Amino acid sequence: MCRRWARRCCFGAILIFIDTKMNHLKKIVFVCIIALSVLACSNNNKKNTNNNQTSVSKNITEQEIEIASGEKLFKSKCFACHRVGKQAINGTGPHLNNLFGRKFGTIKNYRYSNSFLKANEEGLTWDKENLMAFLEEPQQFIKKVAEDENASTKMLYKSLKLEDIQRIVDYLDDYTTIKMDEEHLTKMGEKDARCFAKPKPNADFSDCNLSGVDFSGADLRGANLKNANLIGAKLSKANLSKANLSGALLAGADLKQTNFESAILFRAKMVKAFLGETNFKNAILDSVTWVNGRTCAQGSIGECK
Ligand code: HEC
Repeated sequence: MCRRWARRCCFGAILIFIDTKMNHLKKIVFVCIIALSVLACSNNNKKNTNNNQTSVSKNITEQEIEIASGEKLFKSKCFACHRVGKQAINGTGPHLNNLFGRKFGTIKNYRYSNSFLKANEEGLTWDKENLMAFLEEPQQFIKKVAEDENASTKMLYKSLKLEDIQRIVDYLDDYTTIKMDEEHLTKMGEKDARCFAKPKPNADFSDCNLSGVDFSGADLRGANLKNANLIGAKLSKANLSKANLSGALLAGADLKQTNFESAILFRAKMVKAFLGETNFKNAILDSVTWVNGRTCAQGSIGECK
């Protein structure tokens, strides 16, 4: 189309040159206009081919994105707490291999909320449809399936757009028939079985993921909780005297009236932990991170707050 016009323009230019009645200045202006329009035309052509190229590559990337987006979304929205794949282990949430067809709250060695355990007893099974509903409104969903206004899930996350939920659900479908190797399962079992034990004096919970656990009032004297994840755990009135909590994560934990007498809390993280009548007598509090990342110097709690 543009080329046709360019040809016409050139033809016009020749006619103008032949037309001797036109003065020089006019001729120059006309030639300039023609030259500019030819230039614009060729640019336009280039742009067109560019456009074609981008729309082709756009199609490819859109396709790729469609395939990869489920994975990407999973990585950005679920991966903080869940794993899939052969090496998947339980994190803050249970691993999500073989999800569809799996009963609610069924992964051994994972501490589910009471509501999930109840759903398990009732034989509820995951499918794509109820996963969509769960991911849309986790708390509402569990209240509905448990038929209990007080039911709640430990899964705290910000809901997503429906189309993104759909992509994640499709992505998880790829992991429904994954075979985990026995060795890995056993290893996972061994490590987690220890972490799953009932709280008792001198218990070994080092490196365990105990986030959200309810240990309120428990007797954990001398227990080993080194590097344990106790984020959001309920430890009120628990007895942790002489326990080792170095490097433990206690952010958001309920520590009201908890007894940490002579406990080791070296490098423990207590950001936004709930303190109140907490006993830190003779406890080792070096390098503890308190509210808003302030580090406590050696000494009493009074200096840190
Ligand atoms: C902040 C952590 C966190 C995030 C983020 C999170 N979850 Fe969870 N999820 C949990 C916890 C904790 C549980 C256990 C719920 C309970 O026991 O009440 C859980 C439970 C589940 C279960 C039930 C598994 C079972 O064995 O019954 C599914 C399915 C699930 N999550 C899917 C997802 C998906 C998909 C995403 C991403 C869109 C996601 N979760 C994001 C923490 C999280």
